[in-house]
Amino acid sequence: MTSIVVLGSTNMDLVAYVPRAPALGETVTGRSFRTIPGGKGANQAVAAARAGGEVSMIGAVGTDEFGVRLRATLDHGAVDTDLLRTVEGASGTAHIVVDDEGGNAIVVVPGANGTVTSLDHGDEALIGTADLLLLQLELPLSVVVEGAATARRLGVRTVLTPAPAQPLPPELLAATDLLVPNEHEAAALTGLTDPREAALALLRDVPEVVVTLGAAGSLYAARGADPVVVPAPRVRAVDTTGAGDTFVGALAVALGEGRPAPEALAWAGIAAALSVQREGASTSMPFRTEIEAAFGATGGDEDR
Ligand code: RIB
Ligand code: NA
Repeated sequence: MTSIVVLGSTNMDLVAYVPRAPALGETVTGRSFRTIPGGKGANQAVAAARAGGEVSMIGAVGTDEFGVRLRATLDHGAVDTDLLRTVEGASGTAHIVVDDEGGNAIVVVPGANGTVTSLDHGDEALIGTADLLLLQLELPLSVVVEGAATARRLGVRTVLTPAPAQPLPPELLAATDLLVPNEHEAAALTGLTDPREAALALLRDVPEVVVTLGAAGSLYAARGADPVVVPAPRVRAVDTTGAGDTFVGALAVALGEGRPAPEALAWAGIAAALSVQREGASTSMPFRTEIEAAFGATGGDEDR
């Protein structure tokens, strides 16, 4: 089993489903409202656990009722939460509008996530047991850098999702093995709007890059080889929230199992395509049996 540690955020997603997102100063009437456990870190943890990984989560929830539910969601999702802190005050929240095309706009208020500024010995020991460490940018940058550097020192492969988009310090890139931006993040990091060119530019800083392309699939680039685009199945999206996190969680499991990169991208793309057909982040993530069934149906198995 692939052993995965996630160092990242937990948020309660407060989701309004709307015909279209409001402009500033405008009010629109929504169709419905749901509270759904999310946060990029927790999403990747749940996705990886459902995809068949053995997963632990380092982060923090608050002492509010959201914190109780966020921890319970991870526990029920078979994610080890022994090192998930509970800190006085509010949990992280994400204020999300999802429109009729399944697109979203999000405001994140960090809450408890903002208190995770450094690692302790227990965290380091846990990271040392992992095959892969998954990181995103919803915890303070100081701890993301420390986590990546710790993993690097201990020989653990690091996978960084550079979201929400922001400039990356050189010491973080230096400790990143695989960078997984979406096309917008890739463009923000490089100034290049063509995902292939952006990926090639990012290879100067990290040895492997996967750019997620939404409905168009994903692009894999590694030093010394031509980038390849791996298409995703065509589906009708109802809610794309957490699709990127689903992709990364499943990708980590597949890579940890030693699948070749193009096959791992195809497998993760199927997981993401399954997730966008259902509402919510954590609630929409597929289990391994579903991914395998859909993967077999695409003929992916025959290529092995
Ligand atoms: O990547 C999706 C996640 O981003 C949501 O679950 C929300 O919590 C935001 O952090
Ligand atoms: Na979804």
